[in-house]
Amino acid sequence: MWIIYVLLVLLASLWLYARLTCGRCVCPRDRVSGKTVVITGGNAGIGRCVSTELVRGGANLIIGCRNTAKAESLKLECAEKGFKGKIQVLHLDLQSFASVRKFAQEVIGISPSIDVLINNAALGVPEEIVKSEDNFEVTFQTNYLSPVLLTHLLLPIIKRDGGRIVNVSSIQHLMGSEVRLAKNKTCPRRIMCFGSFVYGDTKLAMNYWTRTLAQRLAGTGITVNCCHPGFVLTDIFSHSYGNIAHFSLRLLANIYAKTPEEGAQTIVHLVLSRNASIISGKYWSDCAEVRFPRRPLKKSTAAILWRNTMEQCGIEEDDRQREEMSGSR
Ligand SMILES: NC(=O)c1ccc[n+]([C@@H]2O[C@H](COP(=O)([O-])OP(=O)(O)OC[C@H]3O[C@@H](n4cnc5c(N)ncnc54)[C@H](OP(=O)(O)O)[C@@H]3O)[C@@H](O)[C@H]2O)c1
Repeated sequence: MWIIYVLLVLLASLWLYARLTCGRCVCPRDRVSGKTVVITGGNAGIGRCVSTELVRGGANLIIGCRNTAKAESLKLECAEKGFKGKIQVLHLDLQSFASVRKFAQEVIGISPSIDVLINNAALGVPEEIVKSEDNFEVTFQTNYLSPVLLTHLLLPIIKRDGGRIVNVSSIQHLMGSEVRLAKNKTCPRRIMCFGSFVYGDTKLAMNYWTRTLAQRLAGTGITVNCCHPGFVLTDIFSHSYGNIAHFSLRLLANIYAKTPEEGAQTIVHLVLSRNASIISGKYWSDCAEVRFPRRPLKKSTAAILWRNTMEQCGIEEDDRQREEMSGSR
């Protein structure tokens, strides 16, 4: 019997710890009023809550996602609640470079300039290695390559002096490997919990890219940061019943995890806080800048990864420089 009491106390303490350590963004929401924000995956999970908060504050939001019906339902919900902001919904499939290019073209057609780009959409841990139409592992393309391409395509219209890029990363970048990234390798299926390594690689790559991009954008007035939203109970775990580890994770999530509203806080903070318009290339958690929870990112890996990524996304060097220098709106 005492084991049950100990377990209950442990679980209650975990729950209390999660609530007490959860960062909350206290910035006035109307700071985003009239600003144009593009968010990927703003229709579900954490992204849906970020979208709600920003539209409540008066943002003009462009949501890119596959399930546009879900985004339309959010649009209706926000209109019914009388929120000041507006939502436009566009189809985007990050598993396809063609779709990313079409989406970017449509955004540029709708809005001559944007204030914030939030790369939020992602897939969770995969159970199989599946290749995309562009011949990349789908998690790597969805979570990393396509956000890079999208950012590159939208860079010319992101406002200088105050424009922000927010990349949603994860603490699971700790499962990522510099060696795999530098060698362009996917973790093989035969390794136990390989899906967590595949997912970890995508988030580690995102951290590296955030830092390198911040260095390249220094002096342009655009900041780029990445964040860990916390351990949040969303559908990202719904495909993860494959083995005992993932089943346990789901169980733990039900007790310990943040709600999607709580998970949205750090992302919202990066959109609203004045600090995030000065600080760039950093990693944030619970609404504060924190150290990358890993040994320092290696310069050599950063350089190789950047080069590989540009090639994989079909981004030419000249093109990149032009994009970075142009469009000081
Ligand atoms: N939940 C957590 O504990 C946790 C922890 C650390 C980091 N994160 C990160 O937080 C972000 C949001 O995750 P979440 O927990 O909110 O996940 P989620 O509930 O599963 O939502 C994922 C979102 O990504 C979109 N998406 C997935 N594949 C897409 C594709 N190919 N093209 C376009 N959109 C796509 C989905 O839109 P559709 O419905 O249209 O596919 C959905 O809006 C992710 O970057 C995730 O890695 C989450």
